[in-house]
Amino acid sequence: MSAATATPARRFDVQAIRRDFPILSERVHDRPLVYLDSANTSQKPRSVIDAEREVYETYYSNVHRGVYQTSVRAEQAFEAARQKLQRFIGARESREIVFVRGTTEAINLVAYTYGRAQLKPGDEILISAMEHHSNIVPWQMLCEQQGGVLRVAPIDDDGEIVLEEMERLLSPRTRLVAVGHVSNALGTVNPVKRIVELAHARGVPVLVDGAQGVPHLKVDVQDLDCDFYAFSGHKMYGPSGIGVLYGKAALLEAMPPFHGGGDMILSVTFEKTTYNVLPYKFEAGTPNIAGAIALGAAVDYLTDLDMDQVAAHEQELLTYATDALSRVPGLRFIGTARHKAGVLSFVLEGVHPHDMGTVLDYEGIAIRTGHHCAQPVMERFGVPATARASLGIYNTREEIDVLVRGLLKVAEMFR
Ligand SMILES: Cc1ncc(COP(=O)(O)O)c(C=O)c1O
Repeated sequence: MSAATATPARRFDVQAIRRDFPILSERVHDRPLVYLDSANTSQKPRSVIDAEREVYETYYSNVHRGVYQTSVRAEQAFEAARQKLQRFIGARESREIVFVRGTTEAINLVAYTYGRAQLKPGDEILISAMEHHSNIVPWQMLCEQQGGVLRVAPIDDDGEIVLEEMERLLSPRTRLVAVGHVSNALGTVNPVKRIVELAHARGVPVLVDGAQGVPHLKVDVQDLDCDFYAFSGHKMYGPSGIGVLYGKAALLEAMPPFHGGGDMILSVTFEKTTYNVLPYKFEAGTPNIAGAIALGAAVDYLTDLDMDQVAAHEQELLTYATDALSRVPGLRFIGTARHKAGVLSFVLEGVHPHDMGTVLDYEGIAIRTGHHCAQPVMERFGVPATARASLGIYNTREEIDVLVRGLLKVAEMFR
C-alpha cells in the first residue's frame, strides 16, 4: 500500500484500548484485574471475539471443499486472513504462510520435515542458551533420531547471546540455526538480523522463534532474511490453537510434508499420492477455520494501532517499570540486556516466586511464576524460578504502581 493510500494509525490511547478488552473490567478477589502475563498469553479485544462468533453464527462451514455459499464465504475469509498475516510480517507471498496450531507446532513441523531430510549423523543444529523448551526439545528429539548434535551458544550475565561464540559454533556441519527473536524468560531482543547474516555467510538457514517477537515488534521477514519464522496467535491478541509458520517458498517447496491426510494432497491412489501446492501441503485436515479468521481480526487490530506505536508504548512502560521495581528492597532482575521487550523477570530475596505470585493474586495481580518453560535459563542464572511481569498494549503505569505496592507488601510479609 502506498503511503498516500495508507489509513492513518489510530491514536495510541491506552484507556480507549483497555475499553476494547472486555476482560479488563473484571474484578479478581474483589480488586480490578491487573493482567501482567501477556507473554504467557494475551487477552482478546472485542473485535477478535466478535469475528470468531460471527463465523460460527453466520457462515461457519468447511474450507476448500464446498461449492455452497457459506463454505465459499468461509474459504474467502480464511484466505483473506492468510493475506493479512502475509502483509503483517512482510512475507513475499501468501503461500509462505502456513497455518498451524502455534509456535510449538511450527517448530516441530520444521524439525520433522526439513530437519529429518537434512540432518545426517554428526550434523549439527545450533540454538542459544535462552531458548524456550519449544525451541530446544524438538531439536533434541531430531538429533536423537538422526544421530545429530545439538550445539548451544552461551549467554552472558545480562542475558545476551555471546555472538562471537555463536559464530565460532557455526561449523561446516551446522544444518540449521534456531533462535528466539525475544526471550520469554529474560525479555532480551536478540540481534536476529545479524545472526541470519552470520549463518547465511556459511550457507546455513535460520529459524526464528517469533512467539514473543510478533506481539511487540514490527516484524519484516524479508528484511530479517530469516528462512523460517514461527509464532502463535494467542500471544498477539488472537485466539489460541492457531499460529503461523512462515517459510521461504523455495525451502517449503523442497520440504517433505508433515502430516498426511485430507487437503494436503492433489491425488491419491494406493500406489502413489501427489502432494498439494503450498501452503496446503502442510495443512492436512480441517484447520482452525474460525481461529484463523479471528487471528486476521487481531492483525487488523494491531495494524490499526501501528506496531511502531505498540513498541513505543511498551518500551516506555518497560523503562518506567524497570525503574519502579528496582526500588523494591531485595529485588533482583534476571535479564538486564541492553535491548529488551515487554518482560520483567525478577527474584525477591527470601521469597519463593510462587509465594509472591499467590500474595499478588489476592491483590488482583496476575503474573507468572516458575521456570517459564526455559529451565536452562534458570540454571544459567542459578535460580529455580523467577517471577515475571510481562506487558501488553493495554498495560498502564498505574498498574505498575499496583504491582510495586503488592511487592512491597510481599517483602514486608516475608521479612
Ligand atoms: C519464546 C517462546 N517460544 C515458544 C513458545 C511456545 O508457544 P505456544 O505454546 O503458543 O506453542 C512460547 C510460549 O510461551 C514462547 O514464549
